[in-house]
Amino acid sequence: MAILEKHKILEKNASLLLVFSFLVVTIGGLVEIAPLFYLENTIEEVEGVRPYSPMELEGRDIYVREGCYVCHSQMIRPMRDEVERYGHYSLAAESMYDHPFQWGSKRTGPDLARLGGRYSDDWHVQHLRNPQSVVPESVMPKYAFLENRMVDPEHIADKLRVHRAVGVPYTDEMIEAAVADFNAQIDPDGDYDALLERYPGAQVRNFDGSPGISEMDALIAYLQMLGTLVDFSTFEPDASR
Ligand code: HEC
Repeated sequence: MAILEKHKILEKNASLLLVFSFLVVTIGGLVEIAPLFYLENTIEEVEGVRPYSPMELEGRDIYVREGCYVCHSQMIRPMRDEVERYGHYSLAAESMYDHPFQWGSKRTGPDLARLGGRYSDDWHVQHLRNPQSVVPESVMPKYAFLENRMVDPEHIADKLRVHRAVGVPYTDEMIEAAVADFNAQIDPDGDYDALLERYPGAQVRNFDGSPGISEMDALIAYLQMLGTLVDFSTFEPDASR
């Protein structure tokens, strides 16, 4: 048992044991992690997931700016209590165009990953203005000022470009039409066919019910699309990937 004799040397020398343990862990780690950087489909693509429309992207930026993520996660775990409360567990693909992603475990408020369509726009306006008026015991701050801050889409095309630089597949056409698409999403009387072609499932309406495009409009457009892109009545996880 020569090899065990040699192993004895390791076992009796703490520094040597440390060095060799480190080596073993490093090799193990590399073997597990390195291939992920080369796999095309570390993220399984799922039908329906698309980049954010300019309006949704603007709303998402406001969400991040206001620190909504400090109290809200967007990640439903595959556990029964969560799935029963919030809906289908979150798929990695649903966050594939999120920069930065909104996962997390800090839930002062409920998870928002499947918020879209759960409440009316009016409810959101009321709740954002004054959360305690709809949920008296809420500790959520008031965001009424969003109604009075108009959004100038001047930089929206640049935002799309930045997201493209980090891997979101915005096309030249999408970037060129960014301002038009931004304006189209708030105007149900206008021509929004091109918007829907570029961003299937985008919801078109005046979200806050007031004239002009305010930060409230953009934020609610974002909130109302959360978790609505994948049709879970037909979705089947592909275990082979
Ligand atoms: C200090 C923590 C805190 C912050 C910051 C916060 N919220 Fe909340 N939020 C809560 C709590 C607590 C609730 C549950 C009570 C309620 O509905 O007001 C909640 C509820 C909600 C709900 C209702 C969710 C549901 O399923 O019933 C929405 C939507 C929401 N928040 C959106 C936002 C947005 C958007 C922002 C940022 C502009 C934000 N929250 C910032 C604490 C917070």
